[in-house]
Amino acid sequence: MPTADSKRIALDWTKAHDVIPLERQLNDTMPQIIAAKRSLCAGSGKGSDFMGWVHWVEDHAPKLLTDVKTLSERIASHSDALVVVGIGGSLLGTKAVYEALTHSFAIANPTQFQRRPVLFWAGHHVATDELNELLDVLDQFSPSLLVVSKSGTTTEPALAFRVLKQYLDDRFGAREASARIFAITDPESGTLLKLSQTHGYPALSIPRNIGGRYSIFTAVGLLPLAVAGINVNEFLEGARQARLDAVGEKNEAPESNPALCYAAIRNALYKEGYKIEALCHWTPKLRAVGEWWKQLFGESDGKGNTGLFPASAQFTTDLHSMGQYFQEGERHLFATHLRVLDESSLSRGAQKRKIRIPQAGLADGFDYLTGQNLEQVQHEAISGTSLAHADGGVPTLIWDIPELSPFWLGYWLYMNMFACGVGGLARGVNPFDQPGVEAYKTNMFALLGKPDLAEQTVQIRARLERGQRLRSLGLTQKR
Ligand code: PA5
Repeated sequence: MPTADSKRIALDWTKAHDVIPLERQLNDTMPQIIAAKRSLCAGSGKGSDFMGWVHWVEDHAPKLLTDVKTLSERIASHSDALVVVGIGGSLLGTKAVYEALTHSFAIANPTQFQRRPVLFWAGHHVATDELNELLDVLDQFSPSLLVVSKSGTTTEPALAFRVLKQYLDDRFGAREASARIFAITDPESGTLLKLSQTHGYPALSIPRNIGGRYSIFTAVGLLPLAVAGINVNEFLEGARQARLDAVGEKNEAPESNPALCYAAIRNALYKEGYKIEALCHWTPKLRAVGEWWKQLFGESDGKGNTGLFPASAQFTTDLHSMGQYFQEGERHLFATHLRVLDESSLSRGAQKRKIRIPQAGLADGFDYLTGQNLEQVQHEAISGTSLAHADGGVPTLIWDIPELSPFWLGYWLYMNMFACGVGGLARGVNPFDQPGVEAYKTNMFALLGKPDLAEQTVQIRARLERGQRLRSLGLTQKR
C-alpha cells in the first residue's frame, strides 16, 4: 500500500498503459504540451488575457492574505453563518474545499463539529424549493451575505441576492443589512461593483485577467474559506508549491511533472477515441471536488464540437450503480481515480482514529478481514477496481494525494488548472473562454421579456410553439 510518508502527489498511469500502449502517443504529444506550457507561463497564445492565475499564487495572492484576514475576522465577529451567493467558478471551488474539510455529520452536533461561521450556498440555480428552505433556517443564525460574481450580471446569483437582501432588510433594517453584505467582483466595472460602491458593501476583487473557474486562489475562494476557519495560508502554499513543480524549465519530462503528464495523457487518450473521462473519488467528502473539476475541464475543453466529456463518480458507492457500465459498457471512457493515502479526517472536531474490522462472531463470511484497517480495504478496492476496469478495456489513471488537508487540496486544484490550461492550448482551443454558455441565457432572457431582446422574444416563442406537440401522457389522472 502506498504510504503518506513520502508526502508527494503522484500520478500512476500503469493501468492506462496496460490498456493502450501510450509511449508513442506521449512522445508525439509532449512537444505540443511543452510548447503550450511555455506559452502559458509566458502569458502568450490563445486566451492570453486570462492567464493571470498562473503566477498569481506566487506574485500577488500572498499580499491579499492580510485583507482576507481583516475582512474574514470582521464577518466572523458578527455572524455565525455566511451565505455565499454565486455560481460556477464563483462558488464551486469554495464548496469543494469547504466540504472536503468539514465534518460530514456537523448537522448532528453543530457545537462540536460545525465550522463557525457555517457556510451556506445560494445563487447556483433558480429552483424555488432550496432557496425557500434556506430562508427557513436563516432565522436560527445571525447571517451575512457574500455575493461573488466577476461579471456582476449573472442571473442566478443576482436573483438570489435580491431575495436574500430583502430578507436581511426585513429582519435587520436596511442599515444593519448593508453592514452584513460583502461582495467580490471585477475591480473596474460591472453592476455589482456599482452596487457595492453605492451601498458601501466592503468589496474585494477578482483580477481582470483571471476567469471564474481559475479563480479559487483569489479572494473568491480565500475569503469565504478564511471565514469558515480553513487555513488559507496553507491552502495557498500548496498552490504555490504546485506552480513551482509545474512551471520549472528543467522539469518538463512527464516522469517528473504530473501536471504535464496528465495533460499529455488526456490528450493522447482523446485522440485514441476515449471521449469521456470519469473522475472517480473514493470518499463522499470529495463529491464537490468532482463538481469543481467537471466545470474546470468541461468549460475549458468543450469547444468547436470537440473535447473530452468530464464525468464524476463516487466509489465504491457508484460501483453498485455505474460499475457495470464501467466494466462492460461502450469502450469510450477512461477513469481517473483520486486516492487519499491518509484517510484519517482533519475536519473540525473529528478524531483521528484507525477503524479496524472487529471480531463480530457473525458467521457472515467476513472473518478473514478481522483486525484489518478499513483503509486497507479501501486500498485493495481501488487496486482491484483499477485492475478490473483495465482488464475490461478502461484506461485508468490514479492520483495519489497524501491527505485531505488545505495544503494538498491547494496543490491538487492548482495542478489540475495547470494541466487543463496546457492540455487545451496544446489541442488548439482557448481553455479560458466559454462562449457557448451564452446560448441558453439569450433564450431565457428573451422569454422572460428582457426589453432589448423584444424581437428575439417573438421569434423564440414562435419556435417553441410551432409544429406538432409530441408527448406521451400517463393514463392515470389524480382527481
Ligand atoms: O468560468 C467562468 O468564468 C464561469 O463559469 C463563471 O464562473 C460563471 O459563469 C459565473 O460568472 P460570474 O462570476 O460572472 O457571475
